[in-house]
Amino acid sequence: MDHSIVVLGSLNMDFVVRVAHLPAPGETVLGENFRMIPGGKGANQACAAGKLGGLTRMVGRVGYDVFGDQLKASLAAAGVDVAFVHATRSQPTGVALIWVDSSGQNSIVVASGANHALLASEIEGTRPAFRGARFALFQLETPLDAMEAAVTLAREEGARIILDPAPAQPLPPDLLARIDILTPNETEACILLGRMPSNVSVAEAPEMARAVRNMGPAAVVLKLGSQGCFYSDSTRELHVPGFAVEVCDTTAAGDTFNAGLAVALAEGRELEAALRFANAAAAISVTRAGAQASQPTRAEVVNWVE
Ligand code: RIB
Repeated sequence: MDHSIVVLGSLNMDFVVRVAHLPAPGETVLGENFRMIPGGKGANQACAAGKLGGLTRMVGRVGYDVFGDQLKASLAAAGVDVAFVHATRSQPTGVALIWVDSSGQNSIVVASGANHALLASEIEGTRPAFRGARFALFQLETPLDAMEAAVTLAREEGARIILDPAPAQPLPPDLLARIDILTPNETEACILLGRMPSNVSVAEAPEMARAVRNMGPAAVVLKLGSQGCFYSDSTRELHVPGFAVEVCDTTAAGDTFNAGLAVALAEGRELEAALRFANAAAAISVTRAGAQASQPTRAEVVNWVE
């Protein structure tokens, strides 16, 4: 069966502790209710796409350990095909250490482990995973050369490329020129542009989105958190407002947004409606705790947008 959405990226087991405030350097803070929750930016995108009704396949690496099995099981439960998530003996499954404060903001440290065993030399072997895909989704928690090779392959197979430049890092111009939709948040856009990270108002968004688009991608969706998102391509620009919600935990909101965007576009929704669908998916996710644990079903999102 052809898959409409293929996600290549990371799978992490998230070790999550809620804290009153994020620790400053040298500070010890007492946290509460430690939880292990399936995560990883790639797996979060795949899991959300599956829950939202997208025919979804994941490409990635885990270790030969219980976390690897649990992460694959979480995706499979969301209907995601995990046939291309292979276990490696060279590294343990990736983990992420996450503190979430009382306002829902987080700090994340990732120990990449098996995610770094996804090698450029192995990408050609994943070609069948991309066959027939309408959208291929990428992030930056797996090796850049492997991701670039997969972008080439996905384009050869006719997929449109959505890149979430997270965690932010400078990217080569020839990669950016092959991206159909780049989806930075405010901080990531600042880092791509070599600016000091700062909050971006809706009024500032057009200039910033155009500046990022001038770096090469055909279109940019600037994710603005509670302010929604701003879309820019060579013919069209629009701001799609967000939804006012009570924030519990912002972890994986951006991943859920990207999944929502891909699912909505893959099923033929018009651009503005697709961006609204993505905003709703992300907004629902921040009202609940955890990465994959917080992601909405298709019925929940449809209920918000229709
Ligand atoms: O985007 C959120 C994700 O970032 C977490 O699930 C964590 O695993 C890190 O990859």
